[in-house]
Amino acid sequence: MASLHLITMSKLWVLFVFCCFTLSMVEMVSSSSSKFDELFQPSWANDHFIYEGDDVLKMKLDYNSGAGFQSKSKYMFGKVTVQIKLVEGDSAGTVTAFYMSSDGPNHNEFDFEFLGNTTGEPYSVQTNLYVNGVGNREQRLNLWFDPTKDFHSYSVFWNPRQVIFLVDETPIRVHSNLEHKGIPFPKDQPMGVYSSIWNADDWATQGGRVKTDWSHAPFIASYKGFQINACECPATVAFVDNAKKCSSSNEKRYWWDEPTVGELSVHQSHQLIWVRANHMFYDYCTDTARFPVAPLECQHHRH
Ligand SMILES: *[C@@H]1O[C@H](CO)[C@@H](O)[C@H](O)[C@H]1NC(C)=O
Repeated sequence: MASLHLITMSKLWVLFVFCCFTLSMVEMVSSSSSKFDELFQPSWANDHFIYEGDDVLKMKLDYNSGAGFQSKSKYMFGKVTVQIKLVEGDSAGTVTAFYMSSDGPNHNEFDFEFLGNTTGEPYSVQTNLYVNGVGNREQRLNLWFDPTKDFHSYSVFWNPRQVIFLVDETPIRVHSNLEHKGIPFPKDQPMGVYSSIWNADDWATQGGRVKTDWSHAPFIASYKGFQINACECPATVAFVDNAKKCSSSNEKRYWWDEPTVGELSVHQSHQLIWVRANHMFYDYCTDTARFPVAPLECQHHRH
């Protein structure tokens, strides 16, 4: 008994050491948050914005309109985080999105879409990724908390090697650069940061069966803690020059290119496995009805 106990204790100790010393840079590098209007501006329905105090912004959806905001600048690589408190109570039919996107017909896009639900039923989070204008890479999960009760942080980490979606610093999705397998990776176009709330009751909730109940409007999403720790790309500068400016070289090394950041830590890999096993309920990679032949990156991705 005693020796068994000892083994357990030493295992625990190893686990402890692991947890404390492998916290990766993805978690550790955090810039302080900015005020909304330092980084963003309304892009849709200015009159559906409510500013509360110094740090909370609310956007409302009613029968007349949704609302949206966008970053003033475009960026390449780095990390973007915002804290969101989603629509409380009945949010069926509504979608709140937080995403990064480039412009043009062959755009790239990294999406968080929060699909509302009837009172008491869980929100779903859909992530998607467009590369050269093509999406169809949906994953869906339920969260391990109620996202309407408190603010939680949602982040996109992006470097030339991977895109990581994080919820409260827990990775929920990793999209790796597999260019060496001939698969395109989004790393040449500066991206803006966007958020919006709108009515999507044709598809959002329980496959479109549940419609928006306008008697419960306005539907309000709240935001705070805006953080962009990325390479800024002036619109006046050509793509190629921005790409060059935002790439690490011998002279300058960006934090998101540090080797410790390039891969998930052991702890984060475990978190991702846990999320996929316990919270993910749809993955395009395993949807054989939709893709009889699995998309190329699914055949190579480790996650
Ligand atoms: C809403 O709740 C139902 C029932 O719990 C669930 O099946 C569904 O995934 C939830 N999310 C959406 C967006 O419909």
